[in-house]
Amino acid sequence: VAETQEVVPTPEELLGFNPFDPEFRRDPYPVYKELRQRAPVLRTPFGMVVASRYAECASLTHDPRFSSDQRNSAQYKLFVEQQRAAGTPVDESEFSPSFLFLDAPDHTRLRGLVSKAFTARRIENLRPRIQEFVDELIDAHQPRGSMEVIEDLAFLLPVTIISEMLGVPSEDADTFKAWSRELARSLDPEIAVPPEVIERRQKASESFRDYFQTLIAKRRGDPQDDLLSALIAAEDGGDKLTELELLSTCVLILIAGHETTVNLIGNGVLQLLRHPVQLERLRSDPSLVKPMVEEVLRFDPPVQFNGRIALEDTDVAGETIHAGEMVITLIGSANRDPGHFPDADTFDIARAPNAHIAFSTGPHFCLGAALARLEGQIALQTLVDRVPNLRLATDAIEYKENIVLRGLAALPVTF
Ligand code: HEM
Repeated sequence: VAETQEVVPTPEELLGFNPFDPEFRRDPYPVYKELRQRAPVLRTPFGMVVASRYAECASLTHDPRFSSDQRNSAQYKLFVEQQRAAGTPVDESEFSPSFLFLDAPDHTRLRGLVSKAFTARRIENLRPRIQEFVDELIDAHQPRGSMEVIEDLAFLLPVTIISEMLGVPSEDADTFKAWSRELARSLDPEIAVPPEVIERRQKASESFRDYFQTLIAKRRGDPQDDLLSALIAAEDGGDKLTELELLSTCVLILIAGHETTVNLIGNGVLQLLRHPVQLERLRSDPSLVKPMVEEVLRFDPPVQFNGRIALEDTDVAGETIHAGEMVITLIGSANRDPGHFPDADTFDIARAPNAHIAFSTGPHFCLGAALARLEGQIALQTLVDRVPNLRLATDAIEYKENIVLRGLAALPVTF
């Protein structure tokens, strides 16, 4: 890792692809266009290969020759080897990766069990509560004539709904929110995150585990009508989630479901404000809310990168990916591929069809997509309906430092 960190690639080598560069983060889309045209499969000096066209991005996530399990990477194998040689072998017995980072058959088994609890009906039942909560947040700011969309709305909605859904008692809600803030960069590779942030996110993750351990014990003795009790009870042919699997699933739901949805709401408000004709269209025809959220997900997706490890040497668009190498599929680029989406750089809230890959494709397709869509639809529609004259309060839009997730640091608006 140290060696990789020291490599300073030239911008020419990377055609401008540098996720560590704030300028790139502000607007990665022109760079993605260069990549698709000139190097659809690009080997970078960061030790990974980057795929930017829709065809490769959408097919790689279905391909069993590519793994979601980081332990198949050449880097991880080298680390295990070095630890063994140093007399401190890695002990994986107490380690239970969440199913996002597992392959079949373990992934199939765990996802199947969790799906039994995370049902469409459970999500749909949340509709009135989501509406009520969004209304409360808007009520609190309406008299002031201004709000900071990320802090005052987008951040609070997903964490509150997930914690209530899991069955976290309301007196713990603030502690829960504070830990969630620390988990924000959990999806970024360690090489990209300052050590103090890694330490804080590790502590938050441990706090969550301890907290859920206690809550699981309570719910085992006294089940309630909540997701945690349903996860404990989920059974398939006598098979159940173990304690470790329950814990990593709870933390996964938080990591996968919180910051992603914050960014959907933030990116959505920004795009509507930047496209006033589309905003007026939505105001006059509320039935466009569903395709509008799909268009936000396509046009400026909260998750920009997906990673897979090659299990064997494999040809991808003429480039050999070697066993153990990591391929990053650029969701943000695939979603703007003109070979798949006509007028791909146009934000059109009525776009149909719209087969974007913001929630991935294949066996790991986002398990929380229905919840994210519901929260995004209600938050954006309610804001547009209830807050006329919504305007950006700044020209200086800054993005968070995250690599994998794309989201605004702040979005001040006036009305
Ligand atoms: C706009 C918001 C969201 C986006 C853009 C998003 C995106 C994604 C993506 C791209 C993946 C697949 C990663 C891969 O292929 O390796 C994924 C997986 C997942 N997401 Fe989401 N997600 C969102 C919201 C949520 C929510 C609200 C939840 C739950 C509360 C959730 C739970 C999950 C889970 C459990 C997985 C793992 C699925 C598996 O590995 O089988 N996500 N999400």
